[in-house]
Amino acid sequence: MSMDYVCIDSHQPLKRTRDDLLRCERSGREYPVVSGIPILVDDPSLLLRASSRSWNQIKSSVETKRAELEALLPGGLSERLQRRIAREIHARRANLDVISRYMTPLDRAAGEGVNTSGGAADFLSAHGSGWSLDWMLRYFAQDWTSSPDFATVSGLITSMIERHAPDREAIAVLGAGACGTARAVVDMFDATHGVDLSLPTLLLARGVLAGDDVVLNFEEIGWKPVRLQKPAPSARSVDLLVADVNRLPFRSGLASVVVTQYLMDLMVDPVVTALEIHRVLKPGGVWINFSNPMKLREEPLPYGVLDIADVPPLFEPVGFDVVQCDETRFTLLNFAHLDPAGVGSFQKVHHTVMRKRPEDRPASLAPRTRRSLDEPSCWGLVAHRVAARAVEIARVKTFGSPHDRSRLQIGVNGEFSEASSSDAELCEALMSLIDGRRTLDGIYTSLAEGVSHFSREMFLEIMSSMHDNFGVVDFRNPAG
Ligand SMILES: C[S@@+](CC[C@H](N)C(=O)[O-])C[C@H]1O[C@@H](n2cnc3c(N)ncnc32)[C@H](O)[C@@H]1O
Repeated sequence: MSMDYVCIDSHQPLKRTRDDLLRCERSGREYPVVSGIPILVDDPSLLLRASSRSWNQIKSSVETKRAELEALLPGGLSERLQRRIAREIHARRANLDVISRYMTPLDRAAGEGVNTSGGAADFLSAHGSGWSLDWMLRYFAQDWTSSPDFATVSGLITSMIERHAPDREAIAVLGAGACGTARAVVDMFDATHGVDLSLPTLLLARGVLAGDDVVLNFEEIGWKPVRLQKPAPSARSVDLLVADVNRLPFRSGLASVVVTQYLMDLMVDPVVTALEIHRVLKPGGVWINFSNPMKLREEPLPYGVLDIADVPPLFEPVGFDVVQCDETRFTLLNFAHLDPAGVGSFQKVHHTVMRKRPEDRPASLAPRTRRSLDEPSCWGLVAHRVAARAVEIARVKTFGSPHDRSRLQIGVNGEFSEASSSDAELCEALMSLIDGRRTLDGIYTSLAEGVSHFSREMFLEIMSSMHDNFGVVDFRNPAG
């Protein structure tokens, strides 16, 4: 594990106080290390709990799936269906067996607290713990099975590094996922950092990078098993760390190159992320991006999606010179090389290279940073809704066999997740109180009257998440 990391608050170097703990003397913050992977986020215990819940959901989904399929056909399954379901259940279980080997450190680290729910704070923070490994398995197939599409994108990135990197000291691959790209560049740099919010994904990636024999089954090719490729031997290794790309645990000016692949389109506010990338790059360092077009937080979809011509005027004020700015096509998660009937998703991609201008500070940009709600004065801020974003609460009633069902969902910007009734009630009460007039203190006081055990910390956690992860709320000083 690299010791280049700094505290996300104080930006001071971290000290290793135990094998599994890093500490900042200045801020007093402590960061756990799970199986060699440091968890360098604002609230590591919340992230561990959310990661663990996500892993538990993957485990239970196999049996739930079987029960659902059987319940659908109370008259009994035909032989054809029985064979098909048996194949799926067998493949899902086989995947679980493989993944379980890598999740033991997570189970241990999350420990006793895992099954105790933090309620709405957990619900919201789950969105701040990266993507579910269940979905991310497809990215392992993309990165580690000699896919021609992966060869294209990693070839593009390495050739951009060869042409534009100021030196070969350090590279940070943000949203590294299955870590194929991080591995593809490891021999080019003295240090390679693979950053992701999803601990389960990094735990599996760690095994693949170490050359473990990993066989996974994929629905896209009829649940056929695929053996992941082992990386070629190398004297260097990728340093894996769990961190939020908007609050990187790197000292300013650390990186010669930052790579973002299929990440920037997910960011609530790409300019905030770009400011953080600018901070960690050294002057003259380059940022290589390859992703679906980014979206602007303040504009409704689909209008908020950037055209390629919008990219330079957005990022030049951050302090970048645009070196290259292209549009191309990419087939994401393409299974065609693994099966003649395998398909992928044909997508528009922006591919840009930007260089940090030599002067240290973004010159012309008004301060626009991640909203910190750490100061006591934050309670006087007025919260308002972001006009272009929507929160929806839906009761989905299904009339069908073997019985009617009803469930609740919370949707943000059109993406829905299952929610408990208490989460939905809290969400409704909260959104009604955010009216552009009430302060955080006023909103908390009204909410806390109706909800038991609702601490001020939990409220701030939720408000931060609504701002940082969902982009649905903003704050302003009462005067402004
Ligand atoms: C679409 S996947 C792309 C993975 C990889 N870059 C690739 O192209 O194959 C997005 C990845 O970004 C991670 N991610 C999402 N939000 C993040 C954040 N705020 N900080 C760090 N990682 C994040 C997810 O966990 C996931 O692994």
